[in-house]
Amino acid sequence: MVVYQILGGRRLCGTVTVQGSKNAVLPMIAAAVLTKEEVVLEGCPKISDVEDMAEIVRSLGGTVWWERNALHMNCEKIEKSRVEGALSKRLRASLLFLGSLLARTGEAYFAGAGGCRIGKRPTDLHQRAMELLGAEVFEEDGTIRAKADHPKGAVLCFPKKSVGATENAVLFAVGAEGATRLEHCAREPEVVHLCRFLKAMGAEITGEGTEQITVYGRQGKRLLSGCRYRVPGDRIAAGTYLLMGAATRGHLTLSGAPLDEMGAVLSLYQKIGGQYTRKSGTLVADSKNVQHAVPYVETEKYPGFPTDLQSLYLAAAMTLEGKSCICENVFEDRLRTAEELQKMGGTLQICGKWLTAEKSRLHGAEVVSQDLRGGAALVSAALAAEGFSTIRQTELVERGYERHPETLRDIGAKIPVE
Ligand code: EPZ
Repeated sequence: MVVYQILGGRRLCGTVTVQGSKNAVLPMIAAAVLTKEEVVLEGCPKISDVEDMAEIVRSLGGTVWWERNALHMNCEKIEKSRVEGALSKRLRASLLFLGSLLARTGEAYFAGAGGCRIGKRPTDLHQRAMELLGAEVFEEDGTIRAKADHPKGAVLCFPKKSVGATENAVLFAVGAEGATRLEHCAREPEVVHLCRFLKAMGAEITGEGTEQITVYGRQGKRLLSGCRYRVPGDRIAAGTYLLMGAATRGHLTLSGAPLDEMGAVLSLYQKIGGQYTRKSGTLVADSKNVQHAVPYVETEKYPGFPTDLQSLYLAAAMTLEGKSCICENVFEDRLRTAEELQKMGGTLQICGKWLTAEKSRLHGAEVVSQDLRGGAALVSAALAAEGFSTIRQTELVERGYERHPETLRDIGAKIPVE
């Protein structure tokens, strides 16, 4: 277990180089199965979720290796189409091999997904998409068996927006006969980046970033070409450091931040008193005047305020004047970090999917990370608190944040090396 010891009460000041996007690169790793040629992901973040996806590629017969900050993959020899539980249950994104294996081999055995405990996280939308594209799908206790001899293009309207289900449907549709029109798609940037990556591999896709995506299948040629692709900056990691700066009234320069994807969090940052300037991919954020809570914040699908930053705003809200009501609309069990924040003196109330936060005298405490983004929120609150905190299970945080303690030390945090 990884434990952070943090001495709080210090402003975060300095420059953060924003890592490559976890949620953009994980689907790209699953997509590498769609070609027998080499794929290179430049600027790939060195985080455990990437290593876990790489392990799955190797378990299928592919080869994966690093060359400095680029992840190289060659899936010429995909001998298996089974993703076993020991690997699949480490993260949610393993589910995306369902679509790419069906497109590559015509079958897939998937032993169930893992990932943050932030809700039930069913897979019904993924299964429905596979079935509508011609696969026979059997699911039992999370294990999915699927077969598709001749996947055919179809029209599929998602009953609700799902990032992963949209991505899985696109990955499978690439290997189908004829055109597939996906309606009510998720518009998250990570869906757009996956489509651009697939187009760089020779796929024909239109409409990414809108609610309607059309994939023109490979007319029997199931395989794409290899490519070299630069992983975009991580909008959630950038938003995390922005809100940590707000919680500590710091002054941060975020280089490589995908500013065009951060509209909702930048608007919230200004409302609480943050001031920023932007120069191409660099954001300079001055939090000295951060003071007022925003009375009402709702998490929504993109381009709304992202659920992944809900707990990071919560940590900052406890340092602000006034009351903040936060409504978590995406995941039904994503408020559990509040109980840990109460141990640090957080004045918080939970009522269903609502959470109210008031200005609190935050003090050091011993707390336990409950999930990736909730753990980052505990780090943020500990940085803002007076005194010493111990945060356990921070391996959950290191699933998604590259060189996290080192990055924080570089901008002034007191996190003694273990
Ligand atoms: C992706 O998860 C991200 N993960 C999440 O980030 C992010 O919070 C989420 O999208 C935002 O929607 C990755 O990209 C690896 P969904 P995903 O399918 O695809 C329900 C992080 O911290 N649903 O868009 O799993 C689901 O329960 C992670 O980086 C179904 O009902 O999310 C949820 O309520 C956490 N049936 C809603 O849809 C399904 O078949 C949105 O989930 C699938 C989803």
